[in-house]
Amino acid sequence: MKAIVYRATGDPSVLELVDREIRDPGRGEVRVRIMVSAVNPTDWKSRRGAKPGEPLPFAEVVPNQDGAGVVDAVGPGVEHLHVGDRVWLALAAYQRADGGTAQEFAVLPVERVFPLPENAGFDLGASLGVPAITAHRALTIAEDGPRRLHPGTLDGKVVLVAGGAGAVGHAAIQLAKWAGAVVITTVSGPAKAALVTAAGADHVINYRETHAAAEIRRIAPNGVDQIVEVAPAQNAELDLAVIRNRGSVAVYANNGGDQMSLDVRRHFSLNVRYQFVLLYTVGMAAVQAAAEDINAAIADGALPVGEAAGLPLHRFDLADTAAAHAAVEENIVGKVLIDVSAG
Ligand SMILES: NC(=O)c1ccc[n+]([C@@H]2O[C@H](COP(=O)([O-])OP(=O)(O)OC[C@H]3O[C@@H](n4cnc5c(N)ncnc54)[C@H](OP(=O)(O)O)[C@@H]3O)[C@@H](O)[C@H]2O)c1
Repeated sequence: MKAIVYRATGDPSVLELVDREIRDPGRGEVRVRIMVSAVNPTDWKSRRGAKPGEPLPFAEVVPNQDGAGVVDAVGPGVEHLHVGDRVWLALAAYQRADGGTAQEFAVLPVERVFPLPENAGFDLGASLGVPAITAHRALTIAEDGPRRLHPGTLDGKVVLVAGGAGAVGHAAIQLAKWAGAVVITTVSGPAKAALVTAAGADHVINYRETHAAAEIRRIAPNGVDQIVEVAPAQNAELDLAVIRNRGSVAVYANNGGDQMSLDVRRHFSLNVRYQFVLLYTVGMAAVQAAAEDINAAIADGALPVGEAAGLPLHRFDLADTAAAHAAVEENIVGKVLIDVSAG
């Protein structure tokens, strides 16, 4: 089978197309014929390493955490998935040398493989893992908020999604809307404003042209209940200016800076909760819960992808995985997908 591998950290040129043996799934594993692989920022960050020359945990790594395909073989002890099932994947490459989705067949623990609802295509399936599970987690950690999402669980809540035109932001808008929230989102320009409107955001604020805090307070005079935050250092003052008493800020990224400064008294005066989120170590119970809710949202038609739904898709062939990684690394707007197997 064809697979993309890298043997050292570095720029996209370390990615190489090779031929590999297909291996059989072991106990508790399934083998998936990958139809579509997706690239997230975490994939190029792992490939590049935290610093130049950083060693890899394995001699050879297959990249990409997210993908969708068809179950091709199941190992002993696997009961709820069967050969022929359409599935989507999460954390495929996490702590696995050969689990990544940039290959024709990936063998994965069954806990990382979820049935793809009938009304969902492989493009949607490949777009879910990192963005949608992270968004679900960010929306379910508020003190007064729900632990699970379904229609009605965020009724009466105001959710602020920072940078809503990003992949995680897009999923957060869609999930929050599906669950009943009023969604305010910030963007850096008009093209992204059009995308978040298509995604379903109720209120869009161009933070480069508007006094964002004043505008959010005008929309939500009592403040916002939950913030899904991609750039905490940049937005700490804004978040404090708009959060309501016992509100929560879920931080899932360090875009715009690693260090932030918080006014202690003003935060404890408002009983603000900061919750940091890292998908890799959030725990499989949270991942499983997210996957179930995400599948329910898909069944309701609430998580579409594509330009008309606010998330443009950009396609690459497996042999062009380096270009796909480069596109994400250069902050392309939308979702980068790789066609792995012919349909
Ligand atoms: N903790 C986790 O488990 C987890 C999970 C998923 C993703 N992440 C991280 O979250 C970040 C976003 O992921 P994504 O897939 O949503 O990426 P993406 O599709 O590239 O979107 C990133 C968005 O962040 C916004 N942004 C705000 N401030 C920014 C800044 N200073 N520099 C660059 N962008 C800025 C941009 O919107 P505007 O231009 O409108 O500001 C952009 O649309 C990445 O750093 C990723 O590694 C972490």
